Formats: sequence, C-alpha cells, structure tokens
Amino acid sequence: MSSLPFQKLLSSLSRPFTRFVDMVGVSRSVYMLDRSAAETQRLNNQHRFLVDLSNLIHPSIPKDKLTAVADLGTGTGIWLEDVADLLPNKSVYLHGFDISSTQYPPHHEIQRPGQNPIPLSVHNALAPFPAEHRGRYDLVHIRLLTAGLKQVDYIRVLANARDLLKPNGWIQWEEVDHTSFCTDAVPEPEVITRLRECVIEAMLKLGLWPFAPQRVFDEISANGFADVVRETYTTSGKEHLRPIAQKWVAGVMRALVPPCMVAIGQAGDPKQARGMTEQLVHEFEAHCETATALVNFGVTVGRRVN
Ligand SMILES: C[S@@+](CC[C@H](N)C(=O)[O-])C[C@H]1O[C@@H](n2cnc3c(N)ncnc32)[C@H](O)[C@@H]1O
Repeated sequence: MSSLPFQKLLSSLSRPFTRFVDMVGVSRSVYMLDRSAAETQRLNNQHRFLVDLSNLIHPSIPKDKLTAVADLGTGTGIWLEDVADLLPNKSVYLHGFDISSTQYPPHHEIQRPGQNPIPLSVHNALAPFPAEHRGRYDLVHIRLLTAGLKQVDYIRVLANARDLLKPNGWIQWEEVDHTSFCTDAVPEPEVITRLRECVIEAMLKLGLWPFAPQRVFDEISANGFADVVRETYTTSGKEHLRPIAQKWVAGVMRALVPPCMVAIGQAGDPKQARGMTEQLVHEFEAHCETATALVNFGVTVGRRVN
C-alpha cells in the first residue's frame, strides 16, 4: 500500500480532528483518502491482495442463483469487474455505487466486450437508495467502507443495504481490522503494542469504531439476517503473501498512527507525529525480517429475512 493517500489522511485529520467529531448528517463526507490516479492503482492492487487472501464471493452464497448484484462504496468498480468474469450467468445485472465518481472509468460505466457495460452511480450509502434499486438485488457487497464511519453510521448503511435486497438476498460485508497490528511472533514486541494502543485510543475518542469486522458481524446478526457467517482471513501460513502483507500493514501504520498520535496528545503536531511513527514503523519492519505480518480481514455474510 502506498503511504501517499494516508499521508493526506493524516494531514487532514491532524488539523480537524474536532471537525471529524462534529460531523453530523449525511451531507458532509468524512472520507479522507485522496482520489488520485495513484489511489486508483492502490485500490486495484489492494483488491488483488484481498481476493488472494479470501474469496471474491463467499462459498456459502449460491453463485449460480445470482441474477443481480450491487457493490456499495465500489471505488474503481474492480470487485464488480471480477464478479462479472466469475459468475456463470453472464446476463447477471451488476451495479456499483459510491459517494464519489472520481475513481470511476469514463462515462461512469465499466465496459465489457460483447456484453452490457456495468453502470456506476453516485450515491451516499448513508442515505436511502432510489426506489428502482430497492428489493432488486440477490447480493449486496460492501468492502472497506468503515474508515470514516462513525459508530452510529454502521446501522444506517446496513439498513440501506438491506433495502436493496430481495427477500432471501445475501449481504457480504468485508472490513480490515486496522488495529490488530500483529505478527506471528510471541511474545509481541513492545513497538506493536504501542502502535495498536495509540490507534484504538484515538478512534474511540473520535467516535469512530476501531474493530470494524466485529461490529459488522454484530450488526448483521442483530438486524434481519439469517445464516450469518463470519470468517477471518489472515496471512498466517501463506508464505507467498508475506512481503505484500508487511508492506500493506506498514502503509496502514504510516497512515493511521500520526493523526492518532496528534489526537491523543502523544505528538504536538503532524510533523512530529510522522517522525515518531516512522521510527516505530522501521522497528516493525526490522521485526518482520523474521516474523510475518498478520493481516486480519473479516468477512461477514448473511441472508435477508423479514
Ligand atoms: C477504501 S475505498 C474501497 C473501495 C472498494 N470497496 C474496494 O474495496 O476496492 C472506500 C470507498 O468507499 C467510498 N465511500 C466512503 N464513504 C461512503 C459513503 N458514505 N457512501 C458511499 N461510498 C462511500 C469512498 O469514496 C471509496 O471509494
């Protein structure tokens, strides 16, 4: 993961942590990553890594029965593109939604030779979807939406996603636990404990929720879904993912830790926070010469019941 988008995140966050906390309603976006060409590339690379780590569509979802699939917070639409290739039914209807079209391809659609393009719409998942989309889909997918999601927002996103589903339609919601910085080494080096505790303390202070996969599972379990399954995919034992996992975790640390340090007063300003973080991340990287960084990717699926 390139640290550039997250450097922007931290410079934004360090200034207005209070703005972050004050944000209300759906009209003000809390999404702080940048939307440059580099970020587009990063999202697509990240997609390959996460699919390698897990599954595009969870095995408990009957793929051959899917006729309409929506992706919320779709980013570049890369997940839908792969789903189009994977699904046996080539006439399946696919639709992506995102609060911003900046990373969409031209004309807001993904071209497919010999087939209908995949439409991509601009829509804030915190707001109800237009009537023509409600009750239309067999599968609604969400991935990595929660970086700026306040605790109260999870349930709103889930309710809107559920409205998109047909009865018995499936949700698949995937999040990374950014606070579970860890490796396969025991005992854990102090540097990792320190990095993790800093992020948890700051996120709680901001009204954000640091343990996204657990929260997603809890909300889906409690709000009108059956056959709920939670999987946690880790890089443990997957030797081929070791270098990319370390790079990915280090990128997350470089992004998240500096603004968190400022938020909880461990650093006086972003520059100092970046310097302090860089030292800690170097220690983490040195530790990873003999240990494997464990990415903690949580996937929850459930079937809509009335
Ligand atoms: C980290 S990216 C993940 C993109 C994509 N899901 C993937 O995994 O490749 C998060 C995406 O969520 C979008 N997003 C953030 N808040 C949103 C909201 N309230 N409604 C819809 N999309 C949102 C962002 O614009 C961004 O494209």
